[in-house]
Amino acid sequence: MLKVGVFGTGHLGKFHLNNWQEINEVELAGFYEPDDNTAASVEETYGLKRFDNYESLMDACDAVDIVAPTNHHYTLCKAAIIKGKHVFVEKPLAHTMQEARELVKLVQESNIKFQVGHVERFNPAFLALKGANLNPMFIEVHRLAQFNPRGTEVSVILDLMIHDIDIVLSIVKSDVKTISASGVGVITETPDIANVRIEFNNGCVANLTSSRISMKKMRKMRLFQKDAYIGIDFLNKKTEIIKLKDDQDTNAFAFDIETPNGVKTIAIANPPVPEVNAIKKELEEFRNAILNNTPTMVSETDGYAAMDVAHLILQKIGNLNIAR
Ligand SMILES: NC(=O)c1ccc[n+]([C@@H]2O[C@H](COP(=O)([O-])OP(=O)(O)OC[C@H]3O[C@@H](n4cnc5c(N)ncnc54)[C@H](O)[C@@H]3O)[C@@H](O)[C@H]2O)c1
Repeated sequence: MLKVGVFGTGHLGKFHLNNWQEINEVELAGFYEPDDNTAASVEETYGLKRFDNYESLMDACDAVDIVAPTNHHYTLCKAAIIKGKHVFVEKPLAHTMQEARELVKLVQESNIKFQVGHVERFNPAFLALKGANLNPMFIEVHRLAQFNPRGTEVSVILDLMIHDIDIVLSIVKSDVKTISASGVGVITETPDIANVRIEFNNGCVANLTSSRISMKKMRKMRLFQKDAYIGIDFLNKKTEIIKLKDDQDTNAFAFDIETPNGVKTIAIANPPVPEVNAIKKELEEFRNAILNNTPTMVSETDGYAAMDVAHLILQKIGNLNIAR
């Protein structure tokens, strides 16, 4: 049995507790939560042991799950890595780039498994594209949410857009060339809505819009590549692939069109979307990486890369000069 401790049992930490309880080969060793009221309700609901200092819980665990506010990620991750414990830490990896750099170095000098909570990688609509040949040259992303005071201690870039930045970086295997960005703080002091254009060295352009002050919700990514259009609806868990083909496709809804190169077939398919709970799946994959000694699916360098782009965007919005 893998012994796991949860650090931070607020909004997201409780979802983690629920999921850990359902995951095989894992036993919860206890939790660390500085807020007495929150801790009392967790003790009562989950019957788990509360530790009154984080180091003693780390000593009682094989792996730690850090779901504390981002400004505590560095201290908790560092202590766990030094103790040789495997780490799952919520996104964003750390509060500052300096902290993130130090954590990457510590992980790489250690033998532990380290995963960052970029949960959209485990969204069924994205998992449906496993094995698909993704090579987009243009990406259009919209992530719109209604206003919720939770998470507003950071900008919409670090709160919401960072999910899409991570997905885009995982798809486009090329370095970032330039970033243009514009953002406005409407309700908070930091950008609540932002539009960003990322150009990659391979010519791909990603255009990302994030808002946390919308009237409606939307989480959509559209990929355009030479032979296909791919639509990913993260909110409604639907995926669509539209392909231009030379011949009929019996697995897809298809119709013919006249092109300058003769008659082609447009095939519209909805690849099967697995029925998975993304949080449970990311925690299970973390467990698997530990038990099978395989790489984690969202590594410390992935967490760092997403943060780096997010910080460059914030610098751009603040009109600071960035050199690549
Ligand atoms: N992956 C996602 O989609 C997603 C969504 C929401 C939040 N998050 C991330 O999860 C983390 C927690 O967010 P939340 O919405 O649950 O916040 P929250 O404020 O609801 O909960 C955080 C909890 O951590 C506790 N805490 C404070 N200091 C601590 C410390 N030093 N050690 C342990 N616990 C401590 C707080 O008392 C609180 O109960 C943040 O890093 C956030 O960015 C990720």
